[in-house]
Amino acid sequence: MIVTTKTILEKAKQGGYAVGAFNTVNLETTRAILAAADELSSPVIIQMTEKTMEYAGGRALFQLVHNLAEFYHPRIPVAIHLDHGKSFEIVERAIEIGFPSVMYDGSRHTYTDNVRTTTKVVAFARGKGVTVQGELGNVPYLSEVHGTVDWDEYMTDPDEAVRFVEDTGIDTLAVAIGNAHGFAVERPEPDYERLSRIAAKVSIPLILHGASDWEDGRAEEVIRRGISCFNVDTAIKLAFVGELSKVIGEGDKTDIRSILEPARDAVKETVKHKIRLFGSEGKA
Ligand code: 13P
Ligand code: ZN
Repeated sequence: MIVTTKTILEKAKQGGYAVGAFNTVNLETTRAILAAADELSSPVIIQMTEKTMEYAGGRALFQLVHNLAEFYHPRIPVAIHLDHGKSFEIVERAIEIGFPSVMYDGSRHTYTDNVRTTTKVVAFARGKGVTVQGELGNVPYLSEVHGTVDWDEYMTDPDEAVRFVEDTGIDTLAVAIGNAHGFAVERPEPDYERLSRIAAKVSIPLILHGASDWEDGRAEEVIRRGISCFNVDTAIKLAFVGELSKVIGEGDKTDIRSILEPARDAVKETVKHKIRLFGSEGKA
């Protein structure tokens, strides 16, 4: 059943667990994510970036996710989400295609510019029942961090977060507490106290980007302190490419399906592990 991320995440917030927002790029990763969620009776968010929309065809991949979810997995709540929309135009395009949920990422702009475009996105999305995620603070990528990182420059300020939510009317908020995308260096220890202060002041669901490598108690700790959603991309890439390389290395396979299927299965296992870690198993 296709739903909005707002529906999934408000329930998660009330229930004290988190839901994974998993990045897809193709048929294999989509099927893996849906199968994992279905096997564990978990709600799930499947998301794609602008780059992926260019790679796969935004409308084509959206329809693929939509059809697979509706026809093969009707008993679990599935939200389809635009991840890191960097302009009003891409968000507008995603909503026109039918995405029930979008992110406008104005985190690299000034506060005023971020508010201006996020508000415009919210106004456009509102009448169409589309959930909007905004970002305040900055979750860096590998290409953006050089040498020693002054984490204070990246962090979400709790008071500014309250103002941002009020000024824009967003439904969910991505926060920065020392998390970083992919292989970028992270703060040695997340700023848990900061997260608690944000969660105490902001009533909408909070999202954590760049934490797909968070294990060993970190994920549980931030869920306890108010995170309702984890974005997971790098863990999926590592599972897929790792298995693919292994199978290709074994040689002599020319049947494309016999190469892609183990990679798909590896992604499924990774997603199942994350669903259990986030606590959304059995919450469909
Ligand atoms: P990772 O690449 O660290 O998994 O982060 C995913 C993400 O934030 C996608 O928006
Ligand atoms: Zn992200």
